Amino acid sequence: MAQVLCQLPPVTSEKLLVGIDTSDDAAVYKLGEDTALIQTLDFFTPVVDDPYTFGQIAATNSLSDIYAMGGKPILALNIVCFPSCLSMDILTEILKGGGDKVREAGALLVGGHTVDDNEPKYGLSVTGTIHPDKVVSNSGAKAGDVLILTKPLGLGILNTAIKAQMLDEKIQKKAIDIMVSLNNIAAQGMNMTGVNSCTDITGFGLLGHAYEMAKGSDVSIIVDSESIPIIEGTVENAQMGLVPAGAYRNQSYLEDNIEFKDDVPIYIKDILFDPQTSGGLFISLPRDRSKELLDFYSKNLKTEFSIVGEVVEKQDKYLIVR
Ligand code: CO
Ligand code: CO
Repeated sequence: MAQVLCQLPPVTSEKLLVGIDTSDDAAVYKLGEDTALIQTLDFFTPVVDDPYTFGQIAATNSLSDIYAMGGKPILALNIVCFPSCLSMDILTEILKGGGDKVREAGALLVGGHTVDDNEPKYGLSVTGTIHPDKVVSNSGAKAGDVLILTKPLGLGILNTAIKAQMLDEKIQKKAIDIMVSLNNIAAQGMNMTGVNSCTDITGFGLLGHAYEMAKGSDVSIIVDSESIPIIEGTVENAQMGLVPAGAYRNQSYLEDNIEFKDDVPIYIKDILFDPQTSGGLFISLPRDRSKELLDFYSKNLKTEFSIVGEVVEKQDKYLIVR
């Protein structure tokens, strides 16, 4: 999207704290000395069959961009595409799922818009607030930082296996639990300790979003492939080749900017490029503050998390995977 928007006349204003130039998760606009507005929009096609669950996943994903900026969601609007030939009960279930997540986030769902379309699509436009001095962008990582990931990887691969009806129920439930987990606790910890940079991991996969952070911050990021949290069942499915096309698109887009150490297995590369649906936060913070954040997550965060790498001065490549 940013590549296309770059072709249009630049949007600048001293009140625009975060715009489109850093491929960030949301726009941030300063309203006054104490308040800035965060504005974001996200929607996609169903990743699971159950309409209520799909609504939950899509809403969780949309809210995530507010959390990635360190903000608090306050208002949400539905964006719906829905085929007129399908039962309205299905749409009701999707909206219920979304509405429940908005409520859980402490925000208000205040309306939306629906258009007739061949394939259902759902998501939210979310408005959040943040103190203008506390905005966390994806371009603030500093050499010496450590990197924390707050959800395990594998969601794209597991969704592919679900679609092929090749995933057992237990793992499927686990994947769904992760996709409907709000990033609110992850963001709360971030606000508490203060961090240098953050983004949420979605369609570009861990390496795609890490690349945007490294480039935006003018640093290089080292990813420790052995410390990546991975959802049970992901490795087996990746080894069987159940890897979504998006992972290969991410790979071909990024390849020139990554140095892979020799012994990184192909299935791990697939997992690092795997597009995530409603993934976790990827946080860069000074090493001396990381213990406090990890302690907070140990007590409060339900998803698996880990230190997954570090930030160094800009090297030949933006990303190094070892
Ligand atoms: Co995002
Ligand atoms: Co997004």
